[in-house]
Amino acid sequence: MSLLDDIAKMAEEATAELDGIETADALEAWRTRYLGTKGAVRAAMQRLGEVSGADKPAAGKAANQAKNALQAAYKIRRDDLGTPGAKARLSKGEVVEDVTIPGRRPTIGHRHIITQTVEEICEVFARMGFEIAYGPEVEDEHHNFDALNIPAGHPARDPLDNYYIDEATMLRSQTSTVQIRVMENQQPPVRIVAPGRVYRPDTVDATHSFMFHQIEGLYVDEGVTMADLKTSLDQFCKAYLGHEVATRFRPSFFPFTEPSAELDMLFHYEDGTTKWIELGGCGMVDPNVLDQVGYDSEKYTGYAFGLGIERMVMRKHNIPDIRMLFDSDLRFLHQF
Ligand code: FA5
Repeated sequence: MSLLDDIAKMAEEATAELDGIETADALEAWRTRYLGTKGAVRAAMQRLGEVSGADKPAAGKAANQAKNALQAAYKIRRDDLGTPGAKARLSKGEVVEDVTIPGRRPTIGHRHIITQTVEEICEVFARMGFEIAYGPEVEDEHHNFDALNIPAGHPARDPLDNYYIDEATMLRSQTSTVQIRVMENQQPPVRIVAPGRVYRPDTVDATHSFMFHQIEGLYVDEGVTMADLKTSLDQFCKAYLGHEVATRFRPSFFPFTEPSAELDMLFHYEDGTTKWIELGGCGMVDPNVLDQVGYDSEKYTGYAFGLGIERMVMRKHNIPDIRMLFDSDLRFLHQF
């Protein structure tokens, strides 16, 4: 008889024996006989040396298959013996577990405080007449940079300051991309807010994360002025953060707005100290951006803003460190 036949016969016998085993001792004896270091499977492996060159691969494969099949069958029988006769009883539809054991209570989840905040903020802007728009998180350079008046070679495009996926594709670094996507598809008047995640390889500290959320705002129409921008943002801050919130506008620069400003809000810390924290950037949409999407920049003007959501969550709920929002220990988040 050839080794191949011997292996097939051995596997058949072993399987038949296994089916009849009812005790842990008998199972262990079976394991030693077939799968042990001096067992039948090992002996078959050792005989591979006797097989001629051409037949060796097939014999080796058969020996391995037999070994794997017997090991798997052994594990199933071992688990089955753990609950005597469970398999057979289960197949008859019998209940094999102790049904009086109390059930496992499923943990009930809820929306993350950032998701709740985005919804609340969108609701405030919706009351002010803004529609909600969304854009992709994986963006092309055109929407993240070129169309926003950030030309090739600009330091903001440095690969060290962005998460590039390939030469022309990246994780968006700002929600301002959605301004362009909306204007490419819609004629003025446009009044939208666009919430979403953005990504930057910033050094993580109490107020910075490498992934965070922004809400973008864009309003383009005839006769829109900086006074509209200031009033809208001021009204929003009061509506969302409370009438007592102190905010200030600071001159700034963004390539896609002119003039530009930064909006700060006052943080009160538990030790009694206060600090101005930047909430976002804003300004009047640069005419180059309007021209680029085919809007008549002689006829239309607009304002835009981009606010950090985490900063607002922190201000509203008195959270001193942004990292607490992303901690895997859920005890902190459960309170919201
Ligand atoms: C921008 O991203 C501009 N796109 C904002 C803008 C939109 C200006 C429209 C003009 C017109 P900036 O890089 O400053 O600007 O980011 C805006 C806000 O995002 C910051 O003020 C801050 O609140 C938040 N932010 C920025 N970086 C981080 C970070 N690493 N972690 C958490 N929040 C951040």
